[in-house]
Amino acid sequence: MSNKIIDGKAIAALMKKEIAAQVAAMIDADNEAPHLAAIIVGEDAASQTYVSSKERACHDVGITSTVYRLPENTTEKKLLEMVDFLNNDADIDGFIVQLPLPQHINTNKIIERINPAKDVDGFHPRNIGMMQLGLPTYLPATPFGIVELLHRSKVEVNGKHVVVLGRSNIVGTPVSVLLSRKSEHGNATVTLCHSQSKNLEEITKQADILIAAIGKPEFVKASMLKKGVVVIDVGIHRIADQSKEKGYRLVGDVDFDDVVTTASKITPVPGGVGPMTIVALLHNTLLASKKEIYK
Ligand code: GUN
Repeated sequence: MSNKIIDGKAIAALMKKEIAAQVAAMIDADNEAPHLAAIIVGEDAASQTYVSSKERACHDVGITSTVYRLPENTTEKKLLEMVDFLNNDADIDGFIVQLPLPQHINTNKIIERINPAKDVDGFHPRNIGMMQLGLPTYLPATPFGIVELLHRSKVEVNGKHVVVLGRSNIVGTPVSVLLSRKSEHGNATVTLCHSQSKNLEEITKQADILIAAIGKPEFVKASMLKKGVVVIDVGIHRIADQSKEKGYRLVGDVDFDDVVTTASKITPVPGGVGPMTIVALLHNTLLASKKEIYK
């Protein structure tokens, strides 16, 4: 793949090898393999696919995984009991509750019930607070993946102007915190833009690095960017396309074909940020089993 394309699939494969070697070393030293559990409620097709990919990735690196599949009509009380069960199960090092949850369940209440030491998604308020303070914690998957992609593609972040589009709790806000933090992979000047930002193009044209996480297909055009910008595309959307065997094609928040000549580096969709997010989960599960964050 050309040097311009940030190959998330290849970087993720390399990181999986590194994790597999660490898991093998633990087992050689007579420790149990790390054990991840996932709870999925309902039949959401995308969530089913994500959870299957997470199971497969665990298997690839030697991490044990257990998936609890609960019906759509599971009550909040029942789900809280499942969370308590996993909090107290000494065999489980870490677990996730796949989102989104059905409407009748209060997501925040569920996340707050997870023992922070087992919160390998890094979604618990305590872990988010620790990230904000620059303390060791489980980083959420997508921000972790973006930081690693930039680092491993040798993109200098220190002193650069990063423009983030989108202020979600799981991507835009935490990646802004991480990249602006006084730390090895931080020290950037970060502008966080959102739906109420004015004169967006004036801001995006100043970006040395642009991170698009707004959930709008092919929103970012070359006319919004300066020559040489590094573009990280977090979006993933199915667009109907009868010329494809599946009847659709995948696009990001960035109009790739339009932007590719303007950018010095760019992540593709698929095969950019996506594969890195699963690696983050494996990485956090390993940290949990080694008790490296919560002793
Ligand atoms: N749904 C979409 N992304 C994620 C994620 O990283 N973790 C969980 N638990 N659910 C998700």
